[in-house]
Amino acid sequence: MTQNGNATNLPQRTALLTRGGRDARVIKYRQASAEDLPAIARLFVVSFADSLHHASVGAKAAKAIADAFGLALSAEPEGLIVAEVGSEVVGYALATGDAKRMRRKGFWQGRWLRMLWRLLTGRYGVGWRTLRAVSADKMAFLRGARLHGAHQARPLSLAVHPAYRGQGIGRQLFAASLEYLRTCGAQTIRLEVRPDNVPARSLYESFGFCVRGSYEDSQGEWLVMTCKTESPEPEVA
Ligand SMILES: CC(C)(COP(=O)(O)OP(=O)(O)OC[C@H]1O[C@@H](n2cnc3c(N)ncnc32)[C@H](O)[C@@H]1OP(=O)(O)O)[C@@H](O)C(=O)NCCC(=O)NCCS
Repeated sequence: MTQNGNATNLPQRTALLTRGGRDARVIKYRQASAEDLPAIARLFVVSFADSLHHASVGAKAAKAIADAFGLALSAEPEGLIVAEVGSEVVGYALATGDAKRMRRKGFWQGRWLRMLWRLLTGRYGVGWRTLRAVSADKMAFLRGARLHGAHQARPLSLAVHPAYRGQGIGRQLFAASLEYLRTCGAQTIRLEVRPDNVPARSLYESFGFCVRGSYEDSQGEWLVMTCKTESPEPEVA
């Protein structure tokens, strides 16, 4: 991606979405903006409902999720890409070229403090039980981040609306994330995935990612997968 925020590869990343041979619509891939955050949060909520349910996170959590994506967007705008059909955001991919730097930037931009304030003043509707569960999992994530190679270039989140899955959108979004991480100079890219997430694992394996190890949080196991950027890329339709 270029410094002004346009992904060098994104203008070409448009494709036709066809359903039953009719209703052809263009899918556009572009860098996200702050206006997309509520739609991205809604996609997160539908795509990771089980995890949210596990942490007893309620409906107001969409605000917290939008703020977390907002933190990432302001720290590293090129890392957040959306897929759009018409004016509807139907998928997103979030990646960081340097996870530590992103966290630090979020701190210095005051975003962590603002989120903490909103949390403590009840704006996220999150109770102590949820807070304990989320904090414990975050600590497990940070501990796990040091295992199996502490590579800082990471795809952080990827989701496609259930109604649009299985049509190549996830592959295009993930390919754009990897391309971005290559432009950041990443030599090894690392991600985490649940062992039973067959679609995501299969997608990552098709890009050359291999399982390097695992660690656990309160919901179970996370597999750590890595890939060298020299790995051959599969054809993206
Ligand atoms: C993972 C996800 C983003 C894939 O998006 P998608 O748009 O459906 O994926 P695509 O249509 O581009 O398919 C890409 C590849 O994913 C894999 N895949 C997708 N759906 C699959 C399924 N139901 N079963 C097995 N593999 C599947 C395949 O390898 C596929 O490649 P192929 O079409 O060449 O076989 C989507 O399933 C999703 O949003 N899941 C919920 C959120 C999530 O789990 N995110 C990942 C967190 S680590």
